[in-house]
Amino acid sequence: MATVRFPLRWVRLNGSGGTGAMPVGGREVVIDVQDLRMVYPAPKAGVAPTVAVDGVRFQVGRGEIFGFLGPNGAGKTTTISILTTLLSPTSGQARVEGIDTAAHPHDVRRKLGLVFQKSTADEELTGRENMALQAGLYGQSGPAVDARISDLLQQMELASVADRFVKTYSGGMRRRLELAVGMVHDPKLLFLDEPTLGLDPQGRAGFWRYIRSLRESKGITVFMTTHYLDEADQLCDRIAVIDHGKIIALGTPKELKDGLGGDILEISVQPGAADLAPLVQSMAGVKSVARREDTYRLKCSDGERLIPKVVLASEQAGISVRGVTVAKPTLDEVFLELTGHAYREEGEGPAPRIPPGDAGAGAPGGDRP
Ligand SMILES: Nc1ncnc2c1ncn2[C@@H]1O[C@H](COP(=O)(O)OP(=O)(O)O)[C@@H](O)[C@H]1O
Ligand SMILES: [Mg+2]
Repeated sequence: MATVRFPLRWVRLNGSGGTGAMPVGGREVVIDVQDLRMVYPAPKAGVAPTVAVDGVRFQVGRGEIFGFLGPNGAGKTTTISILTTLLSPTSGQARVEGIDTAAHPHDVRRKLGLVFQKSTADEELTGRENMALQAGLYGQSGPAVDARISDLLQQMELASVADRFVKTYSGGMRRRLELAVGMVHDPKLLFLDEPTLGLDPQGRAGFWRYIRSLRESKGITVFMTTHYLDEADQLCDRIAVIDHGKIIALGTPKELKDGLGGDILEISVQPGAADLAPLVQSMAGVKSVARREDTYRLKCSDGERLIPKVVLASEQAGISVRGVTVAKPTLDEVFLELTGHAYREEGEGPAPRIPPGDAGAGAPGGDRP
């Protein structure tokens, strides 16, 4: 089965040449990653080491919501762990607010808030107590901190449950508490690793509303990983797509989708039928044709208008058309186009569900540091 790759003229890989912190859209650079590489040693002899991050470079500007997007095992958690000082890279450099994460982890940690998918809250404490505990870890207490805690609980719509034990919280409440806890020391930079994994669509939408409101009220920069393409599309100012440890695309969601250059018309024909490609290649509006067994993918400017022409021409040539679909550009299409494989191939099923009241527990991520 042939995989056809198209020219990737639109792919923007930041930092091609030069090692300085390059402004992103005129913004000040707050995260600067250069040639980052992470190789996990082989667990035993005869097994190959895992190259989890393979020469990654990008920059994030102040106030951006930056999405780090990729399928399971792509290297997202490893990258975010390096950025947040939980791991030291094998080589390359990551700077956060100008500080080298490997050289000065403590200075970096003070600058950032961290929300990992796994719940860190103490079940036997109330939401408010968890927040006070976290503030204490940063040496913060007193009336001003108490006021900030109340304010954050309010903003996350947790005010009414603030004095209840966390063990009574729903999954959505727990995710919001994680976010509030991550923000308690007033960081200007927030790192989120798959924060909405396991939430239902409504919970996910709500969660991102809070992130937006935090950005708007506090001007924070957000670096988030997710494997929900639709979510990243709606929320992020820019997206880096990572696959097998390499960044394969970087740009605004619109740039990435526009880069596809139009609709995708998929035509499946009867097995064994004559080749459709020569017939459709020269049609007006058709930009390229790729074939995968009995299915043809046409990139074209106006998919719907092309359908009757394609069907007529096929029938006239004795090729029986079994089905036609038009796909408007989505990040799924972008991913397929770039990698030659569908986003949820390679053993990834639908996102696992976290049972209500058990957010975080039982979800994958045991390999995280
Ligand atoms: N602690 C570890 N030891 C060995 N291999 C690991 C470890 N953590 C992750 N990996 C491997 O590194 C690759 C990237 O993993 P990860 O960064 O967790 O990806 P993602 O977060 O995108 O799912 C995967 O192949 C994973 O199995
Ligand atoms: Mg991960």
